[in-house]
Amino acid sequence: MPITELQISRIRNLQTPVFSPASRINIISGQNGSGKTSILEAIHFLSTTRSFRTTELRHLVSQGEQSALVFSRVESSSSTHPLALGVERTLDGDVRVRFDGRSLDSAELASLLPVQVLYSGTFELLDGSPSVRRQFIDWGGFHADPAFITLWRGFRRALKQRNSLLKYGKIDRFQMQVWDREFVSYGELLTQHRQAYIAALLPEFKRILSVLLGDVEVELKFHSGWDSKRELMAVLADQFPREAAQGFTLSGPQRADLRFRCGGVNAADRLSRGQKKLVVSALRLAQGQLFRQKADRPCIYLIDDLPSELDEPHARLFCQFLERSQDQCFITCVEPDTLTEFWSPDTDLALFHLDAGHLLSR
Ligand SMILES: Nc1ncnc2c1ncn2[C@@H]1O[C@H](COP(=O)(O)OP(=O)(O)OP(=O)(O)O)[C@@H](O)[C@H]1O
Ligand SMILES: [Mg+2]
Repeated sequence: MPITELQISRIRNLQTPVFSPASRINIISGQNGSGKTSILEAIHFLSTTRSFRTTELRHLVSQGEQSALVFSRVESSSSTHPLALGVERTLDGDVRVRFDGRSLDSAELASLLPVQVLYSGTFELLDGSPSVRRQFIDWGGFHADPAFITLWRGFRRALKQRNSLLKYGKIDRFQMQVWDREFVSYGELLTQHRQAYIAALLPEFKRILSVLLGDVEVELKFHSGWDSKRELMAVLADQFPREAAQGFTLSGPQRADLRFRCGGVNAADRLSRGQKKLVVSALRLAQGQLFRQKADRPCIYLIDDLPSELDEPHARLFCQFLERSQDQCFITCVEPDTLTEFWSPDTDLALFHLDAGHLLSR
C-alpha cells in the first residue's frame, strides 16, 4: 500500500506542505536537527499511532500544540484510486483513526500499513533487552497469521492473572490451576507460532545477510523461555514454590528470546558497528520480504541515516537491495548527494530536502 500523499501537522519542528512521495524510493536530506527523523516518525505514527523514538506523545507533538495529525492517501488493492487514511492523537488521550470514511482499531491499522523502521535504536535488536526481540518476533507472528493476536492476548491475560495471584499471595489452588491451564494452552500455541515464524525467517535472513555482509556467519536461535525439552505444565509445577516466594511467573513464553552468535561468541561482542548495522538491517529486511511473500503486498521501509556507519560499497549494496525489493522506501541522509547515484534511471525516485522543518522537492 504505497503512500501517494502525505500531510503532516503538529509533529515536532515540521512545517511541511502536502507532498507526494514516489512509489519506490524517497530520499530526504537535511542538516542535523532539520527534521529528517521526524518525517519518518510521522509515517510510523500514521501506521501505528505511535512514535518509534518516544513512548510519550507530548514529545512528538509540536511544542505548544495539543495534538498530532497525519493525513495521507494510500493505494489499495480494493480500490482504483488512493484512499484517505488519517491518524490523530490528542494530549488528553483521544486517538482517532479514519480509513476511507470509517474508524479503525489499532490492530486493523497495523495490518493496513505495515512499516519496518531502521534507525539508531534498531541496534537494540542485538544488544538490547529481550523484550525488543520478542516485539520483533511478534510483529512477524502478527502479520503471518490472523490467529496470532488472539493467542497473544489470551496468553497476556493468563500471565497477568497468574502474576497477580502470585504477587498478592492469595493463592487459591483451584484458581491457580485454571490460570495455569490457560497459560499453558495459549503459551504453547504462541510458542509454536513464534518458532514457525523464525524458521521461515531464517533462510531469508541468511540470504540477505550474505548479500550485505559477505561471508560473515551469524547464527540465530530462538529460545522459547523455558527448558523446551520439558512440558510447560511440568515446569510450572516445579517452579511454583519459588514463584510463590518471588511473587511472579518465572519461566514461560514471556521470557522468549533470540540469540545471535558469531565465531562462537555473542554477536554483539564480536561485530563492528557497521557489521551490526548490516545484521539488524538484514533482519528487518528479511521480515519485510517474508511479509511481502505471505501477504502479497509491500511493506514500507523507513531507514534513518542510511549512510551512517557504512562505507560506500556497503551503502550501495544496501540501496541495490532496496531497489530490487519493490517496496516503498523513505531514506534519510545528511548530505543531499550521498545516495543519489545508487539507483537505476528507471527507478521511481523522489529527492526532498529539509531546511529547519520546511520540506522542498529537489
Ligand atoms: N515537540 C517538539 N516541538 C518542536 N520542535 C521539536 C520538538 N521535538 C523536537 N523538536 C526539534 O525538531 C527538530 C527535529 O529533529 P530531528 O531529530 O527530526 O532532526 P534530524 O534532521 O533527524 O537531525 P539529525 O541529523 O541530527 O538526526 C530538532 O531541531 C528538535 O530540536
Ligand atoms: Mg535524525
